[in-house]
Amino acid sequence: MKPSVKTLTEAARARLNAVKSAHDLEEFRIAFLGKKGAVTELMQELKALPPQDRKSFGLEINELKKFIEEAVESRRNSFGGESETAAEFDETLPGVMPPCGKRHPISSTIEEICGIFQRFGFDVVSGPEIETEFHNFSALNIPLDHPARDGFDTFYTSTKHLLRSQTSTVQIRVMEKHKPPLRILAPGRVYRPDTVDASHSFMFHQIEGLWVDENVRFSDLKGILHLFLRELFGDKTKIRFRPHFFPFTEPSIEVDIQWGDRGWLEILGAGSVHPNVFKEVGYEPRQYQGFAFGLGIERIAMLRHGIHDIRYFYENDLRFLKQF
Ligand code: DAH
Repeated sequence: MKPSVKTLTEAARARLNAVKSAHDLEEFRIAFLGKKGAVTELMQELKALPPQDRKSFGLEINELKKFIEEAVESRRNSFGGESETAAEFDETLPGVMPPCGKRHPISSTIEEICGIFQRFGFDVVSGPEIETEFHNFSALNIPLDHPARDGFDTFYTSTKHLLRSQTSTVQIRVMEKHKPPLRILAPGRVYRPDTVDASHSFMFHQIEGLWVDENVRFSDLKGILHLFLRELFGDKTKIRFRPHFFPFTEPSIEVDIQWGDRGWLEILGAGSVHPNVFKEVGYEPRQYQGFAFGLGIERIAMLRHGIHDIRYFYENDLRFLKQF
């Protein structure tokens, strides 16, 4: 014999007391209201009854149905409103990894280089990217007829400003504001109207270094650059100092490292600060000496990671960036 509505109601109450989770609750709901649930079956029976009995039986069933629906609704909220299909929390399943960003290889190279020089007592500073001709050229002892000043080599604005073509501008900015002794490192973007190809970009990054004090000698420059390059490329790295020319340093050098079977590779430019540069910022050249150096970040990142095309750095392609 089928259970009466009354016994079913009691059974529902008892079972509801035993519901301890969203999962139990869903089983409870299906047992009574599901396609083959007890209440659903009673409804089928209703159809078979003679018309005069249907009304009172129908009312009883509806009441039971309402009771169950309300119970399910209110208990569901107490389980944090989980949806009907939500499974219980299973702590044995592997976690869901949140998407996690990381440093761009240019940023991490800058950070690493700054970290090395900070240990040598250098402060990391920055300067503007929109500059005056004075800071980008004149104060750096670059004559008016120097080809770098040409519109083909520098981006000029309509307001007689320019996009700095080297971070050496920050040497001037710092010396204008501060008296020696100073030891600074200035990473940042620089701009040149070069046609973009595998090794050129109209924008790239440099780091500038400057040390000024009363007793700084060329040997200090050599020592610091040796320590730095060995720290960055490994302590067996072979280093070569080669005479060169820059308007803002005298004497000037370029520094090469030995790179496997590719031989000597140029890594940075450097030299003793030219007395004319000190005069431009109001330093007494006979009282102070200093040295400066500048290097390109992309080139170093490309060497260290074996990247053959500079354009990869700027395309924001995750397949490339995820490798670092
Ligand atoms: N500014 C130079 C360049 O862009 C790099 C450089 C060379 C910086 C020698 C220096 C230096 O401070 O002493 O090519």
